Amino acid sequence: MSNRKTILITGGAGYIGVHCIVSLVKAGYKPIVVDNLYNATSDALKAVEAIIGEQVQFYNLDVLDKEALAKVFQENEIFAVVHMAALKAVGESCAMPLKYYHVNVSGTIILMEVMREANVKNLVMSSSATVYGTPQYLPIDEKHPVGGCTNPYGKTKLFMEEIMQDVYASDKEWNIIVLRYFNPIGSHESGTIGEDPKGIPNNLAPYISQVAVGLREQLSVFGDDYDTPDGTGVRDYIHVMDLAEGHSCAVKKITEKPGLKIYNLGTGQGYSVLQLLKAFEKATEKNIPYKVCPRRAGDIAAGYADPKLAEEEMGWKAEKGIDDMCTDMWRWQSKNPNGYSS
Ligand code: UD1
Repeated sequence: MSNRKTILITGGAGYIGVHCIVSLVKAGYKPIVVDNLYNATSDALKAVEAIIGEQVQFYNLDVLDKEALAKVFQENEIFAVVHMAALKAVGESCAMPLKYYHVNVSGTIILMEVMREANVKNLVMSSSATVYGTPQYLPIDEKHPVGGCTNPYGKTKLFMEEIMQDVYASDKEWNIIVLRYFNPIGSHESGTIGEDPKGIPNNLAPYISQVAVGLREQLSVFGDDYDTPDGTGVRDYIHVMDLAEGHSCAVKKITEKPGLKIYNLGTGQGYSVLQLLKAFEKATEKNIPYKVCPRRAGDIAAGYADPKLAEEEMGWKAEKGIDDMCTDMWRWQSKNPNGYSS
């Protein structure tokens, strides 16, 4: 156990972070976490510790606090960083762009400065399919042009990627893997960790889940007049444990494949809002009421990944289907109707 490589996860107490902890431990790594608990809770870390059967070293600090972050690198022999610490609400980013640029972009710059000073140059970054903007073709592969993001959140992800490209161009000792997530949903099969959004969920899956458990009355379907088979938006939902495995694969390959690499993490399969709703009704054996509402500003009609490159180069492939996603999501939501504070 003591020979395990240490992986620092920034934002590691968040929804995706705790699932990555499970996957990294399974893959033989020792994860440590930096998180300011802005959008997460230490209960999530307690819950994940129960799954992995060990304690996770946790630093309650902000990535913008350079001195404190540097100390983490002094105290630990870190092999690689998985950088997830960021703000992620699209609507909020339109209202508070400076906050988003500060946390996401400055946070990345500070982290990379600290890493350079500590001579830790292996970095895996959480990016998003949002960097592709409105798809010009489907499925979306990594060669698809980026840009055209309609909101500051999406732009911060693109800027973070560009900063990494420039840093790599200036110093080829860096090994960077950028992971462009499609739509992560679901939870660990234990149902003891999962997505616990603050306030009203922005995203579809947690909203449906909260309707099913009785916290919200009905789902608003944002538009049924898109050019898609049933008129509702189509997305590539991916089980969060599959997504987490993508990070372990990236960490494994990071020095094997030097350079800066970019991979889509998706299943390659698109589902509409109504298809996801039906799958969730099947998993919960409940009727989930909905009403059709106008389109949401900034939404695309359809987006799904071509995930081949990640399979070819990292040996990673999503294994779980839509029914697993819904069943696992429901296990979490029904056991913890109010999230970690249940
Ligand atoms: C959203 C963000 C994206 C971000 C991603 C992950 C926007 C415009 N995009 O992606 O930048 O990277 O989340 O956090 O917010 N829907 C409903 N009713 C709802 C919620 C959603 O019908 O209450 C529909 C949407 O119109 C869309 C689909 O469900 O067709 C998925 O929406 P969502 O879960 O918010 O994900 P994205 O929009 O793909």
